[in-house]
Amino acid sequence: MNKGLFILAGVMLVGCGPRTFEFKDLTDTQPLEKIQNFESIRTQILVPHCQGCHAWVNQLSSVQANCSEVNFQVSMGWMPKRGSLQLEEKKTLLDWTANGCQDSGR
Ligand code: HEC
Repeated sequence: MNKGLFILAGVMLVGCGPRTFEFKDLTDTQPLEKIQNFESIRTQILVPHCQGCHAWVNQLSSVQANCSEVNFQVSMGWMPKRGSLQLEEKKTLLDWTANGCQDSGR
């Protein structure tokens, strides 16, 4: 399910309605879910957006070793190089890396 599309559609609907336009503050957007599971992060974000250039994203120990660097690079918008993350993907990845790249194993 693409939440981004719903938000976009919502903003457009509101935008066309009566003049009660309320700008949705993007900083309020929540991460997809509180993911503490490396496999979800890997398959949903790292493989599609990072693996092409960084094979190490497939290994939890390597990602953990780079955890704060990943957070930094992504928060600065430097990674993914020549690509982009959807806002929710970015929030999820930043949230996970800010919390030490833990893996619940679930
Ligand atoms: C198109 C290729 C490409 C993609 C896609 C990409 N990177 Fe990078 N990344 C690089 C290159 C090249 C560097 C070396 C530094 C530079 O050129 O900025 C780098 C550097 C890094 C570094 C600094 C440590 C190191 O390995 O040098 C981190 C951390 C990083 N990338 C994380 C990511 C993450 C996380 C993603 C996905 C969200 C990602 N990168 C996507 C090419 C890429």
